[in-house]
Amino acid sequence: MKFLISAGPTREKIDPVRFLTNRSSGKMGYALAEAARDAGHEVVLVSGPVCLEPPPGVQTILIESAAEMAKAIKTHAEDADVVIMAAAVADYRPIMTYADKMKKKDGNLIIELERTEDILASLGKTKRSGQRLVGFAAETRDLIDYAQDKLQRKNLDWIVANDVGKAGQGFAADVNAATMISAEGVTVELPLQDKKALAARIIAILG
Ligand code: PMT
Repeated sequence: MKFLISAGPTREKIDPVRFLTNRSSGKMGYALAEAARDAGHEVVLVSGPVCLEPPPGVQTILIESAAEMAKAIKTHAEDADVVIMAAAVADYRPIMTYADKMKKKDGNLIIELERTEDILASLGKTKRSGQRLVGFAAETRDLIDYAQDKLQRKNLDWIVANDVGKAGQGFAADVNAATMISAEGVTVELPLQDKKALAARIIAILG
């Protein structure tokens, strides 16, 4: 099967030297790409800026912004059997990017933001028969309720809910715990473990 997997953060430019981003390290998405490759699947990985080496045997596409991620994902989603969005895509970007480095002035600064495209929701609207869409839900409270809402609203087949409010797991850590929920109502508890082991479990469930 062809797996399309996203990883890492996006960067939304304010000016040539500043951007909005988040703490995603890409470890979860890269572990999924390696696990899918090791299970014998063809893998395309779309990655935001991270400090990880592109995995051997995986077609890796490097992007920066949410708009670039949307373009790359849509290009490769057409013939993908499984799409897993593990990336932490920015929900907002600055309405305008300054051509020159902003100079500080007295008083506060307000940067107006606009919504980025919800890539998963777009894929959910055009999902072809047999294709499976897998989202992640990163929450700090009401994990399962919010995850169920994303599963339905974005027309997903599975959602991997992870609590990113707990110290030492989730964003940037080497370990993670998750609850996988399917559109059919199957729930799989995945206890705290190394992201590579967790990724292998997720791929085994999907493969
Ligand atoms: O990269 P690591 O440091 O290893 O950390 C892993 C992780 C915590 C980033 C990962 O496990 C995770 O939870 N990824 C999803 C983070 C996130 O943005 O979640 P969300 O609940 O805000 O988004 C829900 C889903 O919609 C996600 O699959 C996301 O990729 C997708 N999305 C979000 C916004 C957007 N504009 N387009 C999207 O497709």
